[in-house]
Amino acid sequence: MLIQEFIQRLPKAELHLHIEGSLEPELLFIIAKRNNIDIPYKSIEELKKAYNFSCLQDFLNIYYQGASVLQTEQDFYDLTYAYFVKCKEENIRHTEIMFDPQTHTNRGINFSFVINGIYRACEDAKERFDITSFLIMSYLRHLSEADAFITLKQSLPYKNKIKAVGLDSSEQGNPPSKFKKVFEASIKEGYIPVAHAGEEGNADYIWEALDILKIKRIDHGNNCLQDLQLINKIKELDLSLTICPLSNKELKVVPNLNNHPLKKMLEKGLKPTINSDDPAYFGGQINQNFIEIQEALDLTKKELFELSRNSFEYSFLDKAMKAKYIVELEEFYRINK
Ligand code: ADE
Ligand code: ZN
Repeated sequence: MLIQEFIQRLPKAELHLHIEGSLEPELLFIIAKRNNIDIPYKSIEELKKAYNFSCLQDFLNIYYQGASVLQTEQDFYDLTYAYFVKCKEENIRHTEIMFDPQTHTNRGINFSFVINGIYRACEDAKERFDITSFLIMSYLRHLSEADAFITLKQSLPYKNKIKAVGLDSSEQGNPPSKFKKVFEASIKEGYIPVAHAGEEGNADYIWEALDILKIKRIDHGNNCLQDLQLINKIKELDLSLTICPLSNKELKVVPNLNNHPLKKMLEKGLKPTINSDDPAYFGGQINQNFIEIQEALDLTKKELFELSRNSFEYSFLDKAMKAKYIVELEEFYRINK
C-alpha cells in the first residue's frame, strides 16, 4: 500500500484543532451573507490570497476577522458539523476540539449559542459518523486574567459539555503565569488544563505551563528541544506534545518542514502527535499534515503508526475507549505495515 493511502486509512485522533480555524472560505461567505455582514473581500479567491502569514500575530488578525461572521447557534452548529464531515473523510475516530468563547462573547454573542451549537454537532457526529469528541474551552492570552474568569463563570452551567481548558492566541509577552489563578480555579471545577506553549515562546514558557498551570498536555511545545532538562521533565511527567506541521510552516515557526523538530522528538522518546491546528488557513486537514511531514522527514510506517497511537493514548478518553481505538489501529497496522 502506498504511503498516502496508508495515511488516509490510518485510524487517528486529532488533539489540536481550533474550530474557528476550520472555517473554510466557502462557508465563511455563506454565513456572512445570511447574517448580512460585509467582509472586506469580494470573492473567495481574494480572501484566500490574504492567507499569507509572516508570524502568529499576522494569522490571528485574519482568524479573528473570519470568526466574526459567526453569530447564531446555527452558525456554530454548521461550522462544527462541516469539520466532522472532514473528520469522517480523514478517518479521524476521535477529536478534542478547542473553541475560543471570548472571540464571540466580546462581540456580544451569547455564550450559550457558541457551546450549544458546537455541542449539538458533536452529538450528531457521534450518532451519524460514530466519531467521539471532547471540547476544550480556550482562554485568549492577549486578554486579561479577569476576562478569563468571566468566561470560566459563564461556562459553569455547561460544565458537563466541556472536558478541558486551554490557552491560546498571542504567545509572546503573555506567559502562562499570567493565568495562574484562573487555571487553578478551572482545575477546581474539574476541567483538565492544557496550554499552547513553546510555539513562538521559548522553553521558559513551557516550564511555566508545566509548573504553574499544571498542564496535562502541551500544545505545540516545539521549543522544548532548546532545554535538555525540560525534555527530561516532559518525559518524567509523561506528557504529549500536539504538533501541527503545516501551521508551523505557514507561521514561520520552522523555516521549512525538513527542519521540523518532530523527528528529534521521536528520537528523544517524547510523545508527539500530528494535528491540523487551523486547517482552513494552513492548507490542509490532518492527513495533509501527515503526508507533508512524512515526506519531509522520511518517516516510516512504523513512525506514523506510533504517532497515531500517541493520539489515542494521550487523548482524554477513558481507558476502555483508548483500548478500543488502539485495538482498531493495531489491527490496521498489522495488516498494512
Ligand atoms: N489560535 C488559533 N490557532 C492558534 C495557534 N496556532 N496559536 C495560538 N493561538 C491560536
Ligand atoms: Zn493552536
